[in-house]
Amino acid sequence: MRYQQLATDRSQFRKARLVIELRHIEKTFRPGKETVTAVKDVSLAIGDGEIFGIIGFSGAGKSTLVRCINLLERPTSGEVIIDGTNLTKLSAKELRAARKRIGMIFQQFNLFSQRSVAANVRYPLEIEGTPKAEAARRVTELLRLVELEDKADAYPAQLSGGQKQRVAIARALASNPSIILCDEATSALDPLTTHSILELLRKLNQQLGVTIVVITHEMRVIEQICSKVAVMSDGQVVEHGSVRDVFLRPQSETARRLIHPTPQTGLSAAAPVNTLRLAFTGEESGAPVISDLTVQCNAMVSILSANTENIGGRPFGQMLIEMPDNKAAQRRICDYLDARGIVYERGDEGSGRMPSPVDEA
Ligand SMILES: Nc1ncnc2c1ncn2[C@@H]1O[C@H](COP(=O)(O)OP(=O)(O)O)[C@@H](O)[C@H]1O
Ligand SMILES: [Mg+2]
Repeated sequence: MRYQQLATDRSQFRKARLVIELRHIEKTFRPGKETVTAVKDVSLAIGDGEIFGIIGFSGAGKSTLVRCINLLERPTSGEVIIDGTNLTKLSAKELRAARKRIGMIFQQFNLFSQRSVAANVRYPLEIEGTPKAEAARRVTELLRLVELEDKADAYPAQLSGGQKQRVAIARALASNPSIILCDEATSALDPLTTHSILELLRKLNQQLGVTIVVITHEMRVIEQICSKVAVMSDGQVVEHGSVRDVFLRPQSETARRLIHPTPQTGLSAAAPVNTLRLAFTGEESGAPVISDLTVQCNAMVSILSANTENIGGRPFGQMLIEMPDNKAAQRRICDYLDARGIVYERGDEGSGRMPSPVDEA
């Protein structure tokens, strides 16, 4: 654990160079008489080679914010600094060049249905005027990278959702971007396909060093590949930090609601004091916690919901459990969890607030 922490700190130091800096971004729309402020004074700094997540519920302003990064949406005020260049100050021509460094993929894939897979991927190269032979070589290389070599001549309609997104990723990579923006890129995909697309993004991040910004409303997406996360609500960033910190000790109401296993069983204002949310980060011992806890504490607990996975024999994810009413048993359970360093939150009596274990200590 200590060593791991050290390694993370060192890699953060190495990656200290900022690729994306958003300074006081504000974006208002005026669809009718009224003004809608979609993004309110957002400042974020994203380091080179990071996989950075932006999470929030629908309407929080995520898409608007991410479109401000490549100036698809021009901020009403604020600055967008990419690789040290202030995009808001560039001429149209300079901006077109700068945008080549930023690829983007979407929930709906946005492929050209009349073009084959290879022709979709080749499209940005045609725009750039890349010589034919070189473009063909590059397309083959990109399709190999996303594991779709055998689909070069297929058309989008013949592909599954996951395959379509792979084509979109290959196309986004064609102009060698240093940044890829993903706006709900896996939201139309089933869980297994989501997993494989996220693994592909992680591979591209590691092999090509590309910085990735992931917009999502799903915490499991953030957990799987992001190192840092910003939580958005009502146009603002209400919380940001390492995924681990936000996942273990969410500070904002929005983060709590996003993290809870299911809305029905998540701790809420009305949650009884005897519910606990356990968070596993894969660092705990592989012992099956609940059965061991039942024996060690001589207390029955019910699992209300769980979305834990076993990764390398260690639990990862979270679980909502209900403890018996007996106060002494509850204390034994909390002592057991404390002793094993398992992070948990407790439903608070009436107040609707969940004290973190730190508050309680
Ligand atoms: N082009 C637009 N015109 C008017 N309002 C918009 C426009 N784009 C977004 N909005 C509004 O801005 C808010 C944030 O939207 P959006 O960025 O799409 O959020 P998210 O991606 O988090 O769901 C919403 O209230 C939305 O209706
Ligand atoms: Mg959106």
